[in-house]
Amino acid sequence: MIRQMPSSPPDRTSESPASSPKAATAMPRSAAPRVLISADDLQRRVAELAAAINRDYAESDRLICVGVLKGSVFFLVDLVKRLELPVAIDFFQTASYGGGTSPGEVRIRKDLDLPVRDADVLLVEDIVDTGYTLRTILDLLRWRGARSVKLCALLDKSSRREVDVPIEYRGFAIEDLFVVGYGLDYAERYRNLPYIGVLEEGK
Ligand code: IMP
Ligand code: MG
Repeated sequence: MIRQMPSSPPDRTSESPASSPKAATAMPRSAAPRVLISADDLQRRVAELAAAINRDYAESDRLICVGVLKGSVFFLVDLVKRLELPVAIDFFQTASYGGGTSPGEVRIRKDLDLPVRDADVLLVEDIVDTGYTLRTILDLLRWRGARSVKLCALLDKSSRREVDVPIEYRGFAIEDLFVVGYGLDYAERYRNLPYIGVLEEGK
């Protein structure tokens, strides 16, 4: 049976003080999560997305792929390895304010190193859930004068969406399940799984 993981874990960005490196060293062992999307299916889909991006940006001389740390790293690396274009990479790190006092307000913890003015920016995300993180970042990139801003998201949990974010390149639509692996974590665990999995009860 699928454990309904809290639909809002303590800090969905997983960069909370609770997930300190010290806590990470004391992780108990448990059964592997159930496979939702296999490693082969992930790689196949990443190749398809990369082919579409190669086509669409063939004329671009200034493409920057921007990832949101840490969850998007595995996806971004696999994707850009398949791009046959001059491409730069850069990263944001975000966190949501906790406590429900400012729902949807997103804090930028680490900003980009590169200027985006007049660049084609492809934002690469692991998962779009409520959409608040992406909405904030997309607006910021446009405000900074990017020539174009598009979103490539591996997973789309559309039933949880609270703000609209157009996804130009979408890997997979998934149900409202809390998923881990291929960069996605639960309290900093499971990022290193080569597949997308669901945690199951009683294992
Ligand atoms: P947002 O709600 O769309 O702003 O998503 C914020 C962030 O929450 C995502 O970028 C992920 O890092 C994290 N997140 C959302 N859903 C999941 C999940 O099912 N597993 C792991 N992390 C998630
Ligand atoms: Mg993320």
